[in-house]
Amino acid sequence: MSVSIAITSHDSSQQHRAEELAQRLALPAVTDGADFDFLLTYTEARLELRKTNSKTGGVYADFVSGKVAHRFRYGGGRGQLIAKAVGLKSGNTPSVLDLTAGLGRDGFVLASLGCEVTMVERSPIVAALLRDGLERAATVSEIAEVMGRISLLEQEGANYMQSLSEEERPDICYLDPMYPHSKKSALPGKEMMLFREVVGEDQDTEELLEAAMVAARRRVVVKRPRKALPLGHQEPDFQITGKSTRYDIYLSAQDT
Ligand SMILES: C[S@@+](CC[C@H](N)C(=O)[O-])C[C@H]1O[C@@H](n2cnc3c(N)ncnc32)[C@H](O)[C@@H]1O
Repeated sequence: MSVSIAITSHDSSQQHRAEELAQRLALPAVTDGADFDFLLTYTEARLELRKTNSKTGGVYADFVSGKVAHRFRYGGGRGQLIAKAVGLKSGNTPSVLDLTAGLGRDGFVLASLGCEVTMVERSPIVAALLRDGLERAATVSEIAEVMGRISLLEQEGANYMQSLSEEERPDICYLDPMYPHSKKSALPGKEMMLFREVVGEDQDTEELLEAAMVAARRRVVVKRPRKALPLGHQEPDFQITGKSTRYDIYLSAQDT
């Protein structure tokens, strides 16, 4: 990572949290972040990633308000494309290993539909944002039940899969990588820009797909921009296509 990042807090009540996080991520905790490219900032409300000297607002995980929460309250339930992609049917609620958790929106949608979701995120910075969002959501009674079905691991997905015993294998492996050179990422613009600079591109997703095919009991689901080629040029068993997003589904022998 070639960018410089520091941890700050907006007010003194958050200072100890900033220092704790700085220690965990081995980054400096500062009061004046002007010399750094990016700041992870504790505001009164949440942890945000911000680009210094930029008008672009902060990026954060949010399950309580905004689009994800709206979808939770008023969304299309099991009729949603992502639900069809993982094979959700009545009487069939698979366990999901979300290998590219990011800010957790997809994993949250699946957990809100009843799936037990293990989120895996390898970037310590993104994992910190996600953990903050999950912790805040867990205090909201309406959402706490969903949070009970989510666990977060800060780890490299392929390594995690190697450690799984036969009994621990998930029904579904879910991948939503950042696409190299893509102008068509499914991520919102601001988030894509910040993630590209701070996290870099996901260059190893073909290997992750290979490992996921071995780990998943039932199927691997890969989220792609609608017109993108399949990951690693591996033709899926079938696709579910929406307006801008497509899900490529690779079935395990058991699910065919
Ligand atoms: C496009 S974002 C995922 C967005 C997510 N689906 C959401 O709904 O918010 C991709 C994320 O996957 C993470 N990632 C990519 N490859 C990974 C791997 N092999 N193991 C763990 N995390 C990975 C990246 O660090 C990045 O945060």
